[in-house]
Amino acid sequence: MQTDALIEGMNALGYKVANLSLRELSHGYDVFVERQKKARFEFVSANVVWQDSGEPIVAPTTVVKATLRDGARSKTVRLGFIGLTRNDPAFLKEGPKGRRIVTVDPLSAAEKQLPALRQKADVIVALVALDLQQARQLPKRVKDIGLILGADSTPGRTAMMTRTDDFPEDTEFGRAHLLYAGDQGKVLGEIRLVFDAKGAASSNQRSIIQLTREWPDDPKLAEVMETVKVAINQYNKEQTLAMSPFAAPTPPPAEATYTGSDRCALCHEQAFTVWAKSSHAHAFQTLLSAHQEYNPKCLPCHTIGFGQRGGYLNPQATSNLINVGCEACHGPSSRHPEQIEAGFGRIDVSSCVTCHTRENSPDYVPAEYIPKVIHWKEAQTKR
Ligand code: HEC
Ligand code: HEC
Ligand code: HEC
Ligand code: HEC
Repeated sequence: MQTDALIEGMNALGYKVANLSLRELSHGYDVFVERQKKARFEFVSANVVWQDSGEPIVAPTTVVKATLRDGARSKTVRLGFIGLTRNDPAFLKEGPKGRRIVTVDPLSAAEKQLPALRQKADVIVALVALDLQQARQLPKRVKDIGLILGADSTPGRTAMMTRTDDFPEDTEFGRAHLLYAGDQGKVLGEIRLVFDAKGAASSNQRSIIQLTREWPDDPKLAEVMETVKVAINQYNKEQTLAMSPFAAPTPPPAEATYTGSDRCALCHEQAFTVWAKSSHAHAFQTLLSAHQEYNPKCLPCHTIGFGQRGGYLNPQATSNLINVGCEACHGPSSRHPEQIEAGFGRIDVSSCVTCHTRENSPDYVPAEYIPKVIHWKEAQTKR
């Protein structure tokens, strides 16, 4: 569902070219081919190849003609694209008729494809799913690459973002300029090319635009997003209700479990009052409003202990564990205060960033956020 929405959105945005990387094949070659038919843009890759022939499984390169602004000396410029992805020796996918898909070294693949592309294009753009170190090798090995637009495909690594003033030395590698613009569509990378009379790119300007809340949504894309969100939520709802019985599995009695925030109010009235007025106390309502209350990707930060033993499971079984309740920060409390455990719930404000990550809370600044939730003695904060 997400992939279909992504393609619909990319079509609407007017994408021309995309780099084929390994994730596009994670559901198999046939599924990829079906999706490829829906895309009004081209996939390129020079180093995702058929094992038997060594030939790329999609076009290795493509050329897009772009119209220059009125008054420019030349009317059009030919942008040549090459796609390159990380070489993963363990990657192997079955194709039709028993043929297999593998990856080969991206730098050698670029060396092989570039001579032909140079003949057809004024500017060469490499779309790379490579780590930064490899991307920086590229213009050293292969001449004439004008731009490297990158994404780091290393699993488990957070998406990289380069800024205009990063890596000034990269501007010295031939003519190559490098830009990594993060992931999840949360950032827009913009490059303006200026061409001289001979049609050569004489300068470029790079910028990274964070698509924060100040930027209004495009109405058509917002509609695509809303439709897919509702569909995914419905799917997750069916999965959740089918899988989990109403009772949550109980952890062994020796282990402390989650009990919910209401119980704390009895003895910690002041802390409770502060908390109840904070947005932590309605974090689950936020998911309801966004039609995402069944999305397992959202629940860890908008409930108490989702994914942990004895933590939030679903609205029926664990209605006491919604929201960023006390135990989302202080931990499971069933043995508190009866059995005084040394240091129960002792945490400090460095724990805020487990949820207030760069991706989910780009505006997070401790000095502005902490005062809004403070329910402890001020002196402790300064530790
Ligand atoms: C029956 C009363 C009672 C209930 C219910 C209770 N607490 Fe406590 N809590 C105490 C007492 C007593 C202390 C120790 C106070 C002190 O520091 O002298 C304490 C201490 C704490 C501390 C401070 C630990 C430290 O660093 O000194 C935290 C945090 C805490 N409780 C959280 C909670 C949370 C969260 C809940 C609900 C899940 C909760 N408490 C429920 C009585 C209670
Ligand atoms: C378990 C995850 C989690 C932790 C840990 C956490 N937060 Fe939050 N926080 C959230 C979520 C989710 C929201 C959004 C709530 C909503 O409006 O739906 C939020 C919202 C906030 C807001 C409101 C932001 C605004 O301007 O509307 C403040 C302030 C805040 N958190 C401060 C903190 C501080 C300070 C800490 C550390 C002491 C902290 N948070 C730890 C999940 C967390
Ligand atoms: C890593 C933890 C984390 C995850 C995962 C997460 N969120 Fe949040 N979310 C937060 C925090 C923290 C905030 C508060 C951001 C702020 O105000 O700085 C927040 C805020 C929000 C807000 C804005 C609330 C408001 O009105 O200000 C919405 C909407 C939201 N989250 C929805 C979602 C959805 C939908 C998902 C799943 C797709 C999700 N979140 C996953 C931590 C998370
Ligand atoms: C967003 C995370 C978060 C939530 C939610 C939260 N707390 Fe805390 N709480 C903290 C942090 C952080 C501290 C300690 C700050 C420090 O000492 O630097 C703290 C301190 C405390 C203390 C010690 C107070 C003191 O003055 O020493 C108590 C008691 C407490 N919290 C109870 C609660 C109760 C009860 C709730 C729910 C009603 C709750 N907390 C919700 C983060 C949280």
